[in-house]
Amino acid sequence: MTPARGFKSLPLRAGPPPGARPGGAGRSGPLAASTPARPYSALVANGERNRRDWEALGEIDPLYAILSAPAAKHGAWDEQAFLETGRADAESIMAACSALGLATRREASFELGCGVGRVTRALAGYFRRSVGLDISEAMIRRARAMNADRPNCEWIVGDAPDLRAFDDGVFDLVLSFIVLQHLPDRAVISSYLREMARVLAPGGALVVQMPASMPLRQRVQWRRRAWHGLRRLRVGERVLYERLGLDPIRMNWLPERDVQAALRLGGARVVAVQAGWLGDGSRTGRERNLTYIATR
Ligand SMILES: C[S@@+](CC[C@H](N)C(=O)[O-])C[C@H]1O[C@@H](n2cnc3c(N)ncnc32)[C@H](O)[C@@H]1O
Repeated sequence: MTPARGFKSLPLRAGPPPGARPGGAGRSGPLAASTPARPYSALVANGERNRRDWEALGEIDPLYAILSAPAAKHGAWDEQAFLETGRADAESIMAACSALGLATRREASFELGCGVGRVTRALAGYFRRSVGLDISEAMIRRARAMNADRPNCEWIVGDAPDLRAFDDGVFDLVLSFIVLQHLPDRAVISSYLREMARVLAPGGALVVQMPASMPLRQRVQWRRRAWHGLRRLRVGERVLYERLGLDPIRMNWLPERDVQAALRLGGARVVAVQAGWLGDGSRTGRERNLTYIATR
């Protein structure tokens, strides 16, 4: 979920992250200091809650949960206008890849957290196969219905915390936008980044957006806390969303050096970093967003 705000996008910048040692990991080493170990049971419980939250959002208000333009709440997104944002994002992504000489082979693309297929659909115009995976069955149901006119799209419900469904090096483009920021655990975010690097083909492009930091005020996330507190009291999800204006969406962040380290562990190297999103730079929150392009 991302609020609409004014934003000036910055040019792509190449090179190592601030604090990185030449040829090595960032200051905190390959296993990031900001990724504290958590009990396995907590990771599983958080992952399951994340799945339930997105299932609910996918049922109640999927398009707004994906792009939260203020006037589009409660099912008010115009579907064509919504899909147009995906077309524009795909165009920017492909232009950035071409400028770097990446993803020239166009066999298959993969989007982690594809939602209703806003971008996966548009990528189907560039790649022979365009694969979208999402944790939410409701999102994937809607993706299938909205994109029946794109026969080279493949839709997968994936709730494993890895990409074991795919062999190494099979995708020419690996993408994830406004997804990893919603995951509860940084260790899990890092592991997805490693997995995304693993499934990337040589010469391919991995494009991933992730906030690098977040102001203290935004970390409070009282709407999400109230949602989960009231869910424990068995208040229904629609009541929370539609009557009380709450939502369960979490916002997380991962410092740039940790993103770079995780991608490196997966065998990829970052070749460009841009502030904000590729594409429509008007969409950003208060967090400091970065978009990374990596290859192997
Ligand atoms: C804000 S939406 C973005 C959708 C899409 N990337 C786009 O830009 O249109 C976040 C999506 O990530 C999905 N998601 C959340 N956690 C996930 C996970 N662990 N694995 C796969 N998808 C996940 C949600 O179900 C939701 O569809």
